[in-house]
This record gives sequence, structure tokens and C-alpha cells, in this order.
Amino acid sequence: MMGAPARRPALVVQPLGALDLDRAARLHSAAFEALGERGWTRQDMAELLASPGVSGLLLQAGGADAGLAICRVAADEAELVTLAVAVAHRRGGAGRRLLDSVVDLVRAAGARALFLEVGADNPAALALYESAGFRTVGRRPAYYRRGPGPAADAVVMRRVIP
Ligand SMILES: CC(C)(COP(=O)(O)OP(=O)(O)OC[C@H]1O[C@@H](n2cnc3c(N)ncnc32)[C@H](O)[C@@H]1OP(=O)(O)O)[C@@H](O)C(=O)NCCC(=O)NCCS
Repeated sequence: MMGAPARRPALVVQPLGALDLDRAARLHSAAFEALGERGWTRQDMAELLASPGVSGLLLQAGGADAGLAICRVAADEAELVTLAVAVAHRRGGAGRRLLDSVVDLVRAAGARALFLEVGADNPAALALYESAGFRTVGRRPAYYRRGPGPAADAVVMRRVIP
């Protein structure tokens, strides 16, 4: 007999607050260390979230921390500062859900364009952003240093917020 199809837990997005800093730093470190980059500490998170125009979102899947996003809005332009999904929760729509929530957030804050920088050696993130309507507008050579290997270029992308 076949069992019931596996159901993915519901994704819930909430504001990233001062009480969530340890969990957010853990999530960020685990997601970025897999790419060979240093993750952010609690202190890094706290300082960033205290900067003008910066806000964060935490995504939970079935009560577990699954992802986070941080963005900055300045007048009518916004920047996606970071986006990370825990390895165990990837390819289930969490990244796209967080990105949609960031777009809603910056639109409500008055932004008309959203920028981001992504490693040219990061095909998963490039595919996510392209599928979400971002277009390449520039490139910063040798921008990301990853261990002893050659530095990776940063691709600068932009999406209009209608
Ligand atoms: C990039 C990242 C946020 C994607 O999160 P995710 O939850 O797996 O993404 P989603 O499941 O929402 O995928 C949305 C789309 O992105 C693309 N995508 C995501 N992961 C991909 C992969 N490994 N390879 C190719 N395309 C991928 C696909 O187009 C996918 O749509 P589909 O599943 O219908 O094919 C996640 O891999 C991550 O945290 N990586 C490490 C940190 C990072 O790179 N952050 C971005 C730096 S700017």
C-alpha cells in the first residue's frame, strides 16, 4: 500500500527582531560557510539591523528556523543585503518566498528598485534571482575572497518594483 504523500511544512515569514539574533547568526553562518564565506556573528547582525533603513525577515518551516533575509531601503532604492536558506530546507520554495516578502516590504517602504550583489560562482542564487525578474546591471571583478582560491566576481542585479 502506498503511504500518504510527504507534505512540506508551511512556510511562515516574520520580522527579524532583537530576540532572534542568535538564531539568525547561526542560520547565516551555516548557509554561507558551505560557500566558503565567513558567516556573520550576533554582533554583526545587531549592528546591521540597527543601521538606518535596515530590516530583516526570518522564515520558519514547521516551527524550525529555515531562512532569513535582510534588506536596506534608502529613499526610492533598496538593497538585498543578504538572503540565506538552511541546507535542509533548500529547493522547497523558501528562498523565493523570502524574496517575495522582501519585495513586498521594500515596496511598502517606498522603494521603486531593488539591487543585490551575488557571486558569479553561485548558480543557485543566480537562477533564483533571474527567475524572480532581476537583471544584471554590472560586475565587480574579484569581489568575494573565498579561502586560498581565486576571488569571485560579484554580479550586480536590479529589479524594478512596480
Ligand atoms: C540561493 C538560496 C537562497 C536558494 O534558496 P532555496 O530555498 O533553495 O530556493 P527555492 O527553493 O525558493 O528556489 C527557487 C528557484 O531558484 C532556483 N534554484 C534554487 N536553488 C537552485 C540550485 N541549487 N540550482 C539551480 N537553481 C536553483 C530555481 O530556479 C528554483 O526554482 P525551482 O525550484 O522551481 O526550479 C540557497 O541556495 C542558499 O541559501 N544558498 C547559500 C546562501 C546564498 O547563496 N545566498 C544568496 C547570496 S546573494
